[in-house]
Amino acid sequence: MNESLLTVENVWKTFPGADGNVDVLRGVNLTLAPADCVAITGPSGSGKSTLLHLIGTLDRPTRGRILLDGEPRLADLRNRHLGFIFQMHHLLPQLNVLENVLVPALINPASRDDAVAHARRLLARVGLEHRLSHRPGTLSGGERQRVSVVRALINRPRLVLADEPTGALDRAAAGALMDLLVEVNSEAGAALVVVTHAEHLAARMHRVLTLRDGELESRLHG
Ligand SMILES: Nc1ncnc2c1ncn2[C@@H]1O[C@H](COP(=O)(O)OP(=O)(O)OP(=O)(O)O)[C@@H](O)[C@H]1O
Ligand SMILES: [Mg+2]
Repeated sequence: MNESLLTVENVWKTFPGADGNVDVLRGVNLTLAPADCVAITGPSGSGKSTLLHLIGTLDRPTRGRILLDGEPRLADLRNRHLGFIFQMHHLLPQLNVLENVLVPALINPASRDDAVAHARRLLARVGLEHRLSHRPGTLSGGERQRVSVVRALINRPRLVLADEPTGALDRAAAGALMDLLVEVNSEAGAALVVVTHAEHLAARMHRVLTLRDGELESRLHG
């Protein structure tokens, strides 16, 4: 019986560069229990987004394995179990706020009414109840970021991957958004991996890990 939700096992990622190959990740290991929450910090270019993309099955490791529930079937399970909050929000410009949020729920049309109610509740939770029919182009950067967070939560994922989810927000809005993520973690039991440069946000996670020289090091709070 495997108790871990997510296992990242000796993962390497090598990109071809102008001066030869670059090993961005050099043997990353990470184990997350259900309802675990970790922050990942590290300098710009250290590979934080790369690692999140691999966990989110948007790219494949050069070497190593990533398992969900001890199984290497992450890609099949992505839509149902993973919520991805991108560093760049990737909202669809032709859809309004409510429609954007509902995109991941389209695979399960049986529960559409439930999804709409859940979407409205979450959007209200981040202060966007008055923006439901706006297109992304008419929103501020911070509003778009909040929409992308709600979209990632719409299917009640078991694992939420957030790449600098508060990068475009002021401190108050960032705090409110982290409140929502922490609540999804503590109440819905979703595991969280949050990439952030903000120390006060990282400190709200159970563990803080730092990517340095292609490896993940644990760091004590404080
Ligand atoms: N598709 C790619 N092809 C080549 N190199 C890449 C590719 N994606 C990322 N890299 C390189 O990998 C390194 C890590 O990039 P990554 O985006 O993971 O950094 P990061 O830690 O998220 O940085 P930031 O804090 O600025 O977001 C960078 O040097 C980047 O140029
Ligand atoms: Mg990044």
